[in-house]
Amino acid sequence: MGTSPFRLGWFGNLTAPEWRDGWSTDDATGWTDGRFYVQMVQAMERAGFDFMMLEDSVMVPDIYAGTAELELKHAIYAPKLDPVPVVAMLAYATAHIGIVSTASTTFYPPYLLARAFSTLDHVTRGRVGWNVVTSSEDRAAQNFGMDTIGAHDRRYDVAAEFLEVVRKLWDSWAPDAVTADAATGYYADHTKVAPIHHTGEFFSVRGPLNTPRSPQGRPVICQAGSSPKGRDFAAAHADMLLCIPNGLDGMKAYRDDIRRRAEGVGRDPDEIKVFFVVEPVIGRTDDHAREKFEEYLSHGQRNYEFQMCNFAATMEIDFSVLDPDLPIPDDVTTNGHQGQFAIWKETFGGRPIREAAAQMRIGSIELVGSPSTVADLMEEAMARVGGDGFMFLSQPPSRSYLADITEGLCPELARRGLIRSGFRHATFRENLRSF
Ligand SMILES: Cc1cc2nc3c(=O)[nH]c(=O)nc-3n(C[C@H](O)[C@H](O)[C@H](O)COP(=O)(O)O)c2cc1C
Repeated sequence: MGTSPFRLGWFGNLTAPEWRDGWSTDDATGWTDGRFYVQMVQAMERAGFDFMMLEDSVMVPDIYAGTAELELKHAIYAPKLDPVPVVAMLAYATAHIGIVSTASTTFYPPYLLARAFSTLDHVTRGRVGWNVVTSSEDRAAQNFGMDTIGAHDRRYDVAAEFLEVVRKLWDSWAPDAVTADAATGYYADHTKVAPIHHTGEFFSVRGPLNTPRSPQGRPVICQAGSSPKGRDFAAAHADMLLCIPNGLDGMKAYRDDIRRRAEGVGRDPDEIKVFFVVEPVIGRTDDHAREKFEEYLSHGQRNYEFQMCNFAATMEIDFSVLDPDLPIPDDVTTNGHQGQFAIWKETFGGRPIREAAAQMRIGSIELVGSPSTVADLMEEAMARVGGDGFMFLSQPPSRSYLADITEGLCPELARRGLIRSGFRHATFRENLRSF
């Protein structure tokens, strides 16, 4: 027998779809009504995806050169839609696929987050996931009455208590609290709906939740931090993990490390599914795919601006003042995405910024070729790493890129039995764990 099947996810940005390539439609401005994303998620469900993840941040970044000019020129992190309400729309238009929304433990009050995701779990009939982020940008903090985002490790301490509170809230309704019994005249049994009386270092919440227990009990918990603190957090709480370690060895080491940490806190490591970010370039033939990749690389300056604004926003480093033809100087540090920064330093640290940035774009492994070539590479990667799946990223999102994946690559993966051919269970978590 060949490799066991693996899972697919999509990193979704609710930002402007491709608008620069001459093939664009009125999606370029019409995307804000959400229908573009509905059509995307429907195509993913049909193609055998496990989930669509919706990223988020709550700011207009202006770290690069101290202005939002290039951010808005390229429409990178802004403008965007709030993913939380969009989940309901995507779920209503699909039947099985999981939908993961990002929400920040630094800005949401736990009660509102517990209620919003319990509501989403109800209206999706058990298909919602929560990408737990601590956020990492001072600019975002300044939209919520804070001057700075707070120290990296402390944000994870807050997040750990936040998780404790929302779990208690989700459990504040016993599974059999709602009886809706006309004979007794009771809709819900008050002895099965209990306050949580949480008083901790960061939060004080009485409870109970005013939403009944949802189909999954709690959303699928997703996490994407890769610093040591982030990995411990994921090992303790996550059902799934998003990461971009470099190369097959990096991927294997990352997954093994997470599984070890999970065992260390008494969890079954198979409960945590690890997804590796990739950006495949698919062509009719290998040569065609190479041409497409070269075409992308030919937009050197545009790509450079895009990448550097992206890295500036997530690492909170103003790359505009650094020489692109030299490595990142040793005295530069980040209070932002430390895992990403560490990968850069470890893997590409000695290389000029321009070159390192181009390599970082590719994701964990480079996948360029025909559907059959890329399927081979994915199959080999999973056999070497041990699992659990890939998450595709395309910035900006585009219909033509999506079609390359869903109509080109996925049918080839399906023919080989490498991705799911259907959904056996009703809920996202059950489906995620079903193989
Ligand atoms: C694939 C991926 C997706 C992410 N999506 C988001 C997001 O939508 N919003 C956000 O604030 N952070 C996002 N992050 C950042 C992580 O949540 C985390 O803050 C970051 O990786 C830094 O954590 P670390 O310092 O523990 O590595 C993402 C990270 C990765 C790798």
